[in-house]
Amino acid sequence: MTMKSQFTAVVPVAGSGTRLRPHTHSFPKVLLTVGSKPILGHITDQLTGAGIRKIVFVVGQFGEKIQAYVSKAYPRLEAVYVRQEQPLGLGHAVWTAREHVSGPMLVLLGDTILDADIKRFIIGGGNKIGVRVVDDPRRFGVVEQKRGIITKLVEKPAHPRSNLAIVGVYSFQDSRPVFRSLDRIVARAAASHGEIQLTDALMDMVRGCSILKVLPVAGWYDCGKPDALLATNRHLLDKLPGKTLKFQGSLIIPPVYIAPGAKIERSIIGPYVSVGAGASICSSVVRDSIINEKAVIENAILDQSLVGPSAVFRDGMQRVNIGESSEISLEDGQL
Ligand code: UTP
Repeated sequence: MTMKSQFTAVVPVAGSGTRLRPHTHSFPKVLLTVGSKPILGHITDQLTGAGIRKIVFVVGQFGEKIQAYVSKAYPRLEAVYVRQEQPLGLGHAVWTAREHVSGPMLVLLGDTILDADIKRFIIGGGNKIGVRVVDDPRRFGVVEQKRGIITKLVEKPAHPRSNLAIVGVYSFQDSRPVFRSLDRIVARAAASHGEIQLTDALMDMVRGCSILKVLPVAGWYDCGKPDALLATNRHLLDKLPGKTLKFQGSLIIPPVYIAPGAKIERSIIGPYVSVGAGASICSSVVRDSIINEKAVIENAILDQSLVGPSAVFRDGMQRVNIGESSEISLEDGQL
């Protein structure tokens, strides 16, 4: 049995997901399927698996879709939804949750699936920031540390003095100092109109003599860009327990995930294909692709493609990246 935790988790999912357009024009990035469930499902499973009972989701313009998914998939979770009117930065997203958090807090980004045991972040006390050695630290928030204690944090440094990147999981034994620092950073940013970074609030805490420790994690699976999402899909499908899937008249080449209720007829599916609930694939060949819920694929050959929920793709052979409810039907010869 999992021990219940006093930690409140804050999961920011209000970002605009610009790198995953066109999907994110009409659909929240974190509800796109990867492996056998939406990105947010993997993250919520990790949190509940670590004993967390309360999660504050910081939502943006697609808040209702996120609430509908979470309340259906996790009916016993104490879920709170707070709205961040504009994506002003991760620090601002966490600050938006302040009235719903007391006591210990864990922050986990809504779009990064970590290869980490979240329990290590909530046991043993102290403040812990998840880190990993990376090749190019200039793209990340970076920490400098001495014997495991953080001395400096810098967001996307031009000349990094460390290769330890912040991976997107943070735990705080007491949330009050974090919100005090965020109050200061938010007030300062209001004057400068800059992005409100969580890294800056953590640096403010370090200056105020809070002790933040680094906690290394094995890795993370980025879902921020189409290629990264497909790579994460391949990785998660490799980890699924091997199950022989049979659809009469079709060939399924594992690893593949096909949600219950999806229709597969006269097709070759796999390897590395994830098919969402209610999707329909007929007379097609699909490999290395994610076909989201209720999408329709007919007479098509698809490779390395992302097909959004309820999108329709007919009579084509190409690599596609099509958003929710779009329809593409190609005439004869237009391949
Ligand atoms: P990212 O900056 O990686 O994601 O934020 P994004 O903004 O959604 O995507 P791009 O960069 O435009 O493609 C990391 C996490 O923090 C959340 C995002 O939703 C994501 O889960 N976030 C970010 C917020 O909730 N609010 C913000 O203001 C910024």
